[in-house]
Amino acid sequence: MEIKKAKKLSGSLVIPGDKSISHRAIMFGSLAEGTTRITNFLEGADCLSTISCFQKMGIDIENTSGEILVHGKGLHGLCAPTETLDVGNSGTSTRLISGILAGQDFVSELTGDASIQKRPMKRIMTPLSQMGADIVSLNGNGCAPLKISGKKLHAIHYNSPVASAQVKSCVLLAGMYSDGITRVTEPVLSRNHTEIMLNYFGANVTAEGTTASIKPDPSLYGREILVPGDISSAAYFIAAGLLVPNSEILLKNVGINPTRDGILRVCKAMGADITLLNETTEGEPTADLLIRSSTLHGTTVEGAIIPTLIDELPMIAVMAAFAEGTTVIRDAQELRVKESDRIQVMTENLQEMGADIQATEDGMIIHGGKPLHGAEIDSHLDHRIAMSFAVAGLLSEGTLSIKNGECVNISYPKFYSDLYSLAE
Ligand code: S3P
Repeated sequence: MEIKKAKKLSGSLVIPGDKSISHRAIMFGSLAEGTTRITNFLEGADCLSTISCFQKMGIDIENTSGEILVHGKGLHGLCAPTETLDVGNSGTSTRLISGILAGQDFVSELTGDASIQKRPMKRIMTPLSQMGADIVSLNGNGCAPLKISGKKLHAIHYNSPVASAQVKSCVLLAGMYSDGITRVTEPVLSRNHTEIMLNYFGANVTAEGTTASIKPDPSLYGREILVPGDISSAAYFIAAGLLVPNSEILLKNVGINPTRDGILRVCKAMGADITLLNETTEGEPTADLLIRSSTLHGTTVEGAIIPTLIDELPMIAVMAAFAEGTTVIRDAQELRVKESDRIQVMTENLQEMGADIQATEDGMIIHGGKPLHGAEIDSHLDHRIAMSFAVAGLLSEGTLSIKNGECVNISYPKFYSDLYSLAE
């Protein structure tokens, strides 16, 4: 994929559905009684992997003219899959589905691509084992492929060492199949889409501070779900609109859940001109975002804000390279175990383009303001790396070429055409 410098960006864009919410709508719809109708579902490769896993467990899922219909069979309605469940590149599918499988009365195996087979699964194996589940890493390395023999589970109060919505959600989903109230406490609050959506389906989930609790054996009922636009996908256009001179763009229908909106807060701290319009507050809050070119300056990104922008940190690193002054990102060691080691890959690729950036154990230090030039960079098959560098390419001299740039299909199949539709 080759990207050239842009003169300005203008126009508007409807941001595609949120990936985290689309996954959960399929999962919870499958465990509900009756039909769940999902609109603005994200048809990226990750969410399609979740659909295929539930189809293999006997759930009828239809994709009809922009809507997804999930014909759920209730909490105990899944069938034993006759083949290995393939989650592709999706960490969310791996960890959340494992929580569900732990409570079934059948044995299953789950695996994914080369990246998934390197990502840490001990973080879910530990709490699930404490609940009495039988979950084994078949290669003995704490990663997928996983073999899960479902059991009647015990309720636990799990103190998670990581702020991870995937770990929290895994334990809460297993908690539905347990013998009492299951609790998860995280060091810092992570995204709360599971808590919001499970309650909408009829479960009893409560949240107090950084602890979420679920009552066992809920009756879930099919629902209508309108998936908001993904703020993680909007982030690339927010950054591009701010950084490309003379730009003004409108991003429509973006989810602004406070556990996800850290990117907006960091942009504001860097001096961004962003206006929220048409805000909605029911269920998952949304807004249209009006973005105007701005002169950005460096900032520090650390502490409790990190989980609210964890997937946007590659984009923030690029923004920091174009901002005046120094940006420090810390407390973000989780970046090392995403689809790629995002600290290493961002640092190497930005240095390749001429940026002054240094990797640290848990983040990056970026001295911004140096002009960047085109280069050949490797996405490492990581969708967020490819999209972040496409934005960098709009701002650099010469041509930027991105190896395996088509990996944007994971979360945003129309990314490049949407980007070109705004660029001059
Ligand atoms: C997600 C949670 C985050 C995020 C991922 C999606 C989710 O991962 O990085 O892209 O849908 O719950 P962690 O919870 O592991 O940080």
